[in-house]
Amino acid sequence: MIRARITGTGSYMPEKILTNFDIEKMVDTSNDWIVARTGIEQRRVAAEGEYTSDMATRAAERALEMAGVTAGEIDLIVLGTITGDYPWPATACIVQKNLGADNAYAYDLSAACSGFVYALSCASDFIQSGRGKKALVLGAETLSRIIDWTDRNTCVLFGDGAGAVVLEATEGDTGLLSSHMHSDGSYLDLLYQPGFGTRHMPSAETLEDRLPYLKMEGNEVFKVAVRSLTSVSLEALEANGMTASDVSLFIPHQANKRILEATAKRVKLTDDQVYINVHKYGNTSGATIPVAMDEANRAGMLKADDIILLSAFGGGFTWGSTLIRW
Ligand code: UT7
Repeated sequence: MIRARITGTGSYMPEKILTNFDIEKMVDTSNDWIVARTGIEQRRVAAEGEYTSDMATRAAERALEMAGVTAGEIDLIVLGTITGDYPWPATACIVQKNLGADNAYAYDLSAACSGFVYALSCASDFIQSGRGKKALVLGAETLSRIIDWTDRNTCVLFGDGAGAVVLEATEGDTGLLSSHMHSDGSYLDLLYQPGFGTRHMPSAETLEDRLPYLKMEGNEVFKVAVRSLTSVSLEALEANGMTASDVSLFIPHQANKRILEATAKRVKLTDDQVYINVHKYGNTSGATIPVAMDEANRAGMLKADDIILLSAFGGGFTWGSTLIRW
């Protein structure tokens, strides 16, 4: 049986660090509140002139280098993002050009914070079907540009960054064992960016209403996030006849430490089974999981035959999980 196996990981985080103390000077908040409610201590912010495609390219280069794969060998590039350089064309096409991945076709995937796990699922299906042998899967975001820096309810939560993995066809028992994706469009207005799609075009009025900025009903999102992350994590384990004790490392979407802890508890995972880096980067939407994977991988935490569980939840709502034998 052909499976897709991760043979390289890479990430790129912009240099500029914005601490909670910096944000204290911008809105009515405090380091204590942010740490207590979210676990976040700081986040990275892209430099002026630094775009999602730049960060994604750097992450991809690092993943390719680790895999020992050249850009020309890549058949497919899928980028999970909601903050692409342009509404269209796809930022994945810019990454393809930057890398010189001349044999790949490339597209963006819009599933908010679930963008990376959705993209991983698409690329895995592509490889399993035999249509190609090597794919690049990315999650990259410049959320700092769609954040309302006057809204304390949201501006403390998000950050910028990019992560990437190289997927290759393999015939062994290793690789992606299964993927489980879900959506529910009825929750759209709990977490979304009202402008500028074609529904709300740029105008003095839509700017005045701050429509180009991310809006979130955090408390409502929180409850559904814990429920959905729990159910989709259990779904992946059940589909493979496994339980929480089989998991070597759970790498969830990093939105809020309290969400991760509540989910881990419900899935019956112990603290040392859960990878957390939200304190360093905040919520980088589609980038959180590949960045965390790359950190864990480079720290030697992902070993041969380990069972790795990835779960994500985000705007749409979208949610999904993937179980991997490393
Ligand atoms: O990526 C996937 C999608 N995103 C998420 O999963 C995020 C989900 N939500 C959350 O992480 C949390 O709901 C938040 C961190 C956004 C908020 O935490 P909460 O414990 O749900 O707080 P809350 O919204 O119930 O607000 C509690 C209080 C409110 O004051 P009142 O009405 O009780 O007087 C807020 O106005 O905290 C206030 N508040 C703040 N205070 C200081 C909200 N934001 C801030 C802030 N600093 N930055």
